[in-house]
Amino acid sequence: MVIDGSGLAGAAPAQDQMVQQLLFWWDENQSDLPWRRSKDPYAIWVSEVMLQQTQIASVIPYYERWMHRFPDIESLAVAPLEDVLNLWQGLGYYSRARNLHAAAAVLVEQYNGRLPRDQAALLRLPGIGRYTAGAIASIAFNQPAPVVDGNIVRVLSRLEDLDQDVTKTGTRNYLWRLASALVPADRPGDFNQALMELGQKICLPAAPRCNDCPLAGNCRANQKGTQYERPVRPPRKRTPHFDVVAGVIWRKEKSAGNEFLIARRPLDGMLGGLWEFPGGKIEPGESRGAALQREIREELAIEITAAETIGAVKHAYTHFRITMHVLHAYHLNGLPQHLGVSDHAWVRLPDLDGYAFAVTDLKIIDMLKKELT
Ligand code: ADE
Repeated sequence: MVIDGSGLAGAAPAQDQMVQQLLFWWDENQSDLPWRRSKDPYAIWVSEVMLQQTQIASVIPYYERWMHRFPDIESLAVAPLEDVLNLWQGLGYYSRARNLHAAAAVLVEQYNGRLPRDQAALLRLPGIGRYTAGAIASIAFNQPAPVVDGNIVRVLSRLEDLDQDVTKTGTRNYLWRLASALVPADRPGDFNQALMELGQKICLPAAPRCNDCPLAGNCRANQKGTQYERPVRPPRKRTPHFDVVAGVIWRKEKSAGNEFLIARRPLDGMLGGLWEFPGGKIEPGESRGAALQREIREELAIEITAAETIGAVKHAYTHFRITMHVLHAYHLNGLPQHLGVSDHAWVRLPDLDGYAFAVTDLKIIDMLKKELT
C-alpha cells in the first residue's frame, strides 16, 4: 500500500483497514499509564513534555510528583521557578521545565488558565512545537492532528520502506505529511499513541518483532526484508569529550556539619538557573587543581587551594560527553562575586534539598554523603 499522501484516494479502504488493525491492537495491548487516566489537557501536555527525550518508566514518578505539586496551570504559573526546577531535577533538558512555567504564565494571562484548542495558538506558546501541539490537539481535544516522534519515524519509514535519510528536513516533512494523511478523524489521539506504542513494543530499532506486528501485512520493509536497514540515518559522528573539574570548596574544615560553596549557573544558556559545584573545563596542559583555581577566580573572584580528589563523574549530553573530576578545595580569601555565576551560597550537606542541581552535581552530592556521613 502506498501511503504517501498522493495515492490516498485509491488506497482509502486499505488505509482504513490498517488504522482499524492498529487501534484493535492498541485496545488489547496499551500500557496503563497515569496520564492516560486523565482527559485534562494540562495533564496531557505535562506528560508529553516529560516524555520527550525520556523513557516512560523514568517519567512516571516525576509526572506524579508534578501533578501533586502543580495540579493545574494556575498553581504552576504562580510557583517560583526554583520550585519548578527542583521538581524537574534529574529529568534533564531543563529548558522543558522553564518553558512549561513560562507558558503557564501566558495561559493564565491570555487564556483564562486553559490550553487553547487552536493549534496555531498552541504553537505560539513557549516550548510547544509541532510534536507537542499535535499530541495535545489529538489526545486532549480529539482533533485529527498528526504527531511524529522517534518511534513514529521508525514505524512509518518501515511501513513505506523509505530509503531517504530521516535526519534531513525534506524527509522529516515528508513523514509529517504521511502521518497527517494517516491520522483518522475518529480516535486520532488513540491512533497517534498506538503508533508510538507500536514503535516501543513491536517495531523495535534493532530487533523488530514483525511476527507479532498488526501491520506486518501493510509493511513494505517487512515484505522486502529491509526492516533492519530502516530508518536510514547518516553514520554516527563521535561526540566530543571534555575533561572538566568541579570543586567542593570548604569555608573552613571539611566535615559533614561545615559549610561549602555552591554557585548558580547563569539563567540563560545550558542548565540555566541550576545550582552546581563550581568549576569548568580543563585547558590542554593544565593540572586539575590549577584549572579549578583559575575557573573559581574567573567565575567568583576568590582564591582557593585545591586538595585531594573525591572521584569522577561521567555524563553524556546530547552533543558532547564529559568526565567531571571532583576535588576538595579550601577557601583562602576574597568575597564571592558573581562574574560568571548568577548567585552563590555557603551551605551544609543537610541544606541541599532546597536547591535544584544538575544530574552530575547530584552524583557529587551522593559521593560527598558517602564520604562524610
Ligand atoms: N511517548 C510520548 N508520548 C507518548 C504517549 N502519549 N504514549 C506512548 N508513548 C509516548
